[in-house]
Amino acid sequence: KSRLAQQKERTLGIIKPDAMSKVGQIIDAIFQCGFKVTQLKMCRLTRNEAFQFYQEHQGKTFFECPDVSNLINFMTSGPVVAFELMGVDAITKWREVIGPTDSAEARKTAPMSLRARFGKDNTQNACHGSDSVASAAREIEFFFPSVGTVRQNTAKFTDCT
Ligand code: PPS
Repeated sequence: KSRLAQQKERTLGIIKPDAMSKVGQIIDAIFQCGFKVTQLKMCRLTRNEAFQFYQEHQGKTFFECPDVSNLINFMTSGPVVAFELMGVDAITKWREVIGPTDSAEARKTAPMSLRARFGKDNTQNACHGSDSVASAAREIEFFFPSVGTVRQNTAKFTDCT
């Protein structure tokens, strides 16, 4: 690979509320896959924060349908762990490690993936991964604002304790 192709990328990952009891195994997999964890926090998203984070999906049927399993209800149902990963091709590589969106599908096509191992369906699917360089930049800034310090970070998110 050329020097350019080997440049390190950053991506944003989330352990979703349904997989919080698997944090140890998921962090273990992250290190085994060779990623560097450069930032990490545990927090509970408010509805406003979940709306903002998933803004690109507004208008889709699953975004905020009356169903209890919709995306906003699910992502605010408990604490999450958000982290910035760094590595060569980190965006693509992390999405390969987590597997396809639907955990049921992942069990057929990528049985070793984190969504296959720890998720249930396309809502309760254990993990999130940014899908592009632009999304990664926006999502990293969302959880880990570059302006300000620890004080700003702690003020932004609801304490999960
Ligand atoms: S899309 O339409 O292809 O962009 O959607 P997709 O990338 O598959 O999913 C985007 C995120 O929405 C979640 N999702 C759902 N939530 C609730 N109900 C349903 N039916 C549903 N389908 C998809 C999915 O888990 C994705 O979350 P992230 O955090 O991005 O993985």
